Amino acid sequence: MSFLMTICTLVVNVLCSPLHLIHAVGLYQIYKRFFPSYLYRITEGYNKIMCDPKKELFRSLPEFNKPGGQLTILEIGCGTGANFEFFPPGCKVICTDPNRHFQRYLKKSMDQNDHLTYERFVVSSGEDMGSVEDESIDVVVCTLVLCSVNDVPQTLREVQRILRPGGAFFFIEHVAAKASTWAHFFQHVFQPAWYYVLDGCEVTRETWKHVEAAGFSELKLRHIEAPFMFMVKPHIIGYAIK
Ligand SMILES: C[S@@+](CC[C@H](N)C(=O)[O-])C[C@H]1O[C@@H](n2cnc3c(N)ncnc32)[C@H](O)[C@@H]1O
Repeated sequence: MSFLMTICTLVVNVLCSPLHLIHAVGLYQIYKRFFPSYLYRITEGYNKIMCDPKKELFRSLPEFNKPGGQLTILEIGCGTGANFEFFPPGCKVICTDPNRHFQRYLKKSMDQNDHLTYERFVVSSGEDMGSVEDESIDVVVCTLVLCSVNDVPQTLREVQRILRPGGAFFFIEHVAAKASTWAHFFQHVFQPAWYYVLDGCEVTRETWKHVEAAGFSELKLRHIEAPFMFMVKPHIIGYAIK
């Protein structure tokens, strides 16, 4: 199976060579302008399907508030603001994303979710959130982002840096399917094309290994089969406490 997978992946890579070229000369950046409107449309469907797991996960958010304080949530790769509706009333939200073109859609989500206080939108990658002070955040939220960051361990180090002791990292991520399954096979074969359609998304990442190795004091992580097509069916969901 592994030989067949290598050959098929090679064929898809060859078919994608015009896209590799566009990427190599920097023209793929233009897609960053259009990706937010595409994501805005697919987010509604994703949230409908994942409504119950999201509600269940984010129900634990208030546990990480300081006594008498206002819960401060920082979202990495916030995109269009798909998670705002699941955050508890009254919390303060700092949004970050490297793609500034999300701002228009973010504003829409903020207007629709006026139960939250929005502090600011920071244009930054998860690997470098330098403008956020050490140990200043109660909760970091990250959904469908670790598949796209350039450096997962560095992003998790940044999460650890900005979280206060006892703060938590909440995540929902699609991940690589089990080895020797057809889902694993097709994830690898279609990955080269998928990368361009979904703005740098890699479906073959074993992200749970990085979360497990990140040195959190407590980790609640579940593997689930989300009701989506095979490429993004395996998910991990949970939270980790600093
Ligand atoms: C599939 S979207 C998910 C958006 C949102 N979190 C959600 O659940 O709908 C992936 C997001 O990750 C962002 N992203 C890509 N590279 C990133 C990086 N290095 N650091 C942080 N976010 C990144 C993208 O701009 C995009 O907003």
